[in-house]
Amino acid sequence: MAWTLGIGLTVGVGLFLYWQLIIAEGVYLGQKVVTLLYDRVAPRYNDIKEFDEQEELRFLAWPLGRALGDAFDGILIDVATGTGRLPAAMLKMAGFQGVIIGVDHSRRMLAVARCSIPGLPLVVADAMHLPFPTGGAQTVTCLEALEFFPRPQAGLQELTRLLAPDGLLLTTNRIGWDAKLMPGRTWSPHKLRAVLAGLPLKNIAVTPWLNIYQQVWAQKKQMWMPDKDIRA
Ligand SMILES: C[S@@+](CC[C@H](N)C(=O)[O-])C[C@H]1O[C@@H](n2cnc3c(N)ncnc32)[C@H](O)[C@@H]1O
Repeated sequence: MAWTLGIGLTVGVGLFLYWQLIIAEGVYLGQKVVTLLYDRVAPRYNDIKEFDEQEELRFLAWPLGRALGDAFDGILIDVATGTGRLPAAMLKMAGFQGVIIGVDHSRRMLAVARCSIPGLPLVVADAMHLPFPTGGAQTVTCLEALEFFPRPQAGLQELTRLLAPDGLLLTTNRIGWDAKLMPGRTWSPHKLRAVLAGLPLKNIAVTPWLNIYQQVWAQKKQMWMPDKDIRA
């Protein structure tokens, strides 16, 4: 009996830790834990994500570049930039004339970004309290990170605060089986639309961000991306 209880307890604790640390990536343990985990994973992050340059161009830089227009020369703030995935892709676009600022809470994620994109302005900051003026950015992006913010809805408000009139907000929200294991941090597409509609945004589009060349990967980890949110 004692053995059974002991094994059951060990398995239970193991599953709980797996959920908290691996699936939910520390979000219920506080911002410090999330940042600590990203600090630790930073040197391996790009390999884990298996970023492919052509796919990043095709499914990130080109659609965003199209939405911004040929002559975009404004400020783009990439919140939770991590290792600089979005800046790296955008800066490869021949016509892109804008200035990109990367923001993240993890110094080590930013250190990787600094190595791969020398000269990219990087700021260590909490997305919940961004050190930028209201209405100063033509574009604000935040990929694969809302679910890590202590209060994702308040985080979206903070992102929106930075937008200039007619600015563009691009963000993602995790869906799929693992999203269900992060209650309170992710939304259904329907709920996401409602949350966005409650912000001073217009032309809201919520679309699946599918990578046709990585169907298997996409099935594992689908996301929904409002691809053209323009502030009122
Ligand atoms: C899954 S990574 C996404 C990185 C990048 N946007 C990408 O698409 O590869 C999540 C990032 O969010 C950052 N992050 C989590 N909470 C944050 C917060 N409150 N403020 C700023 N960055 C945060 C983490 O440090 C991490 O770099």
